Amino acid sequence: MTSGPGRAGPPRAVGAERFRRTLAAHASGVVIITAQNGGVPVGLTATSFSSVSLEPPLVSFYVDRSSTTWPRLGAAGHFAVNILASDQAELAARFARKGADRFAAPTRWRPGPLGAPLLDDVSAHLICLPYDRVTVGDHILVVGLVAEAAVHGSGRPLLYHQGRFGRFLAHPDS
Ligand SMILES: Cc1cc2nc3c(=O)[nH]c(=O)nc-3n(C[C@H](O)[C@H](O)[C@H](O)COP(=O)(O)O)c2cc1C
Repeated sequence: MTSGPGRAGPPRAVGAERFRRTLAAHASGVVIITAQNGGVPVGLTATSFSSVSLEPPLVSFYVDRSSTTWPRLGAAGHFAVNILASDQAELAARFARKGADRFAAPTRWRPGPLGAPLLDDVSAHLICLPYDRVTVGDHILVVGLVAEAAVHGSGRPLLYHQGRFGRFLAHPDS
């Protein structure tokens, strides 16, 4: 489909401000993607995490091409997805802060079976091997093959909506 000068119809792309404001209406879970590069732990907070395929088991996230964490994360041989619990908003904010020592106390973590850091007290984690990578606009779509998965704790999720962290409340009828 094309649209260009002289054609009737809407412009090709929505304005950035309206785009941001509309996407803020979409609630999402929050994860921290971690990896180990040359013995140094790296990680960032992401809401773009998604399941992709059951067979093979694939998940994905999008990373900003301008991320300074990405070159070290992307060079690692595998990565972990830490699915945050409802009381981990501070942790999520710390792993989104530029220049912060994200793995220093009060962050609590341990190396996973392949080396990627696993954060303490998360709802669940996945350990992923690189499967595919596609540049899409100003982000990179990173697809991982899930090698290991484990659920911990109560499973109450941390959510992100309208620029704020929050909790899930089940509908009384569900
Ligand atoms: C709630 C939330 C969700 C985010 N989701 C993503 C994401 O999906 N992809 C991404 O690249 N950055 C995301 N960010 C930004 C990164 O966590 C982080 O701020 C960024 O990587 C910091 O830049 P650096 O990588 O240069 O240190 C998110 C930040 C917040 C607070």
